[in-house]
Amino acid sequence: VVGALADGPLTGKRIIVTSGPTHEPIDPVRYIANRSSGAQGTAIAAALRALGAEVVFVTGPASVAPPYGVDLVPVETAREMRAAVLAALPADAAVFAAAVADWRVVGASDSKIKKVAGALPVMEFAENPDILAEVSQMAHGRPALVVGFAAETDDVIRNATAKRARKGCDWIVANDVSPATGIMGGSENAVTLISDSGAESWPRMGKDAVARQLAARIADALV
Ligand code: CTP
Ligand code: CA
Repeated sequence: VVGALADGPLTGKRIIVTSGPTHEPIDPVRYIANRSSGAQGTAIAAALRALGAEVVFVTGPASVAPPYGVDLVPVETAREMRAAVLAALPADAAVFAAAVADWRVVGASDSKIKKVAGALPVMEFAENPDILAEVSQMAHGRPALVVGFAAETDDVIRNATAKRARKGCDWIVANDVSPATGIMGGSENAVTLISDSGAESWPRMGKDAVARQLAARIADALV
């Protein structure tokens, strides 16, 4: 049967996964965004589904194809992603793998801004909603397990630990995305899982393997 869920330790669990970048329009042809292929989020969604979870996959414009068998919710901007996540609640767990643009352009133009020699556009930015923080701090209907990501270039563990405390999520999956690591845009990842029990660094492995290991940990935590 098309769409039938695999039976596994996450059968009966509903999990939201955000993935990919968001695009914040400047005008109809231009945008600002974070770098993200969506590969790690896609792999996590696939791994959760393989363990039997019902996965709501809220994805910005990614460069990899979405996984099969998920409830696919394509979005463009951070504000659309927030609305889609809130609409997908309640859920047993939520994994925030998206690289959400921190700012959007105020007063994005409905028509293409024409280039005029010597006249540079000046843009004003507004802060986007922090979806992970909002869901982590929900007084009612908070998923039992909220997992955030922290892609850092400096002081990875310290920054990610502070980020976990600031946002109020249960786990942070931290990684070093300094150019020298070659992680950004590649097929491998080297992550540290930060939780109440401390920081646990996993060996560098394929993004699919990271995803399977994380999905297994989520299954352990949700029983
Ligand atoms: N996140 C989110 N909504 C945002 C920004 C981030 O849900 N508006 C989530 C990301 O999906 C990720 C986590 O928060 O799981 C951390 O994102 P990150 O960009 O590392 O954290 P920021 O708080 O935005 O800090 P900074 O970019 O300054 O490091
Ligand atoms: Ca950010």
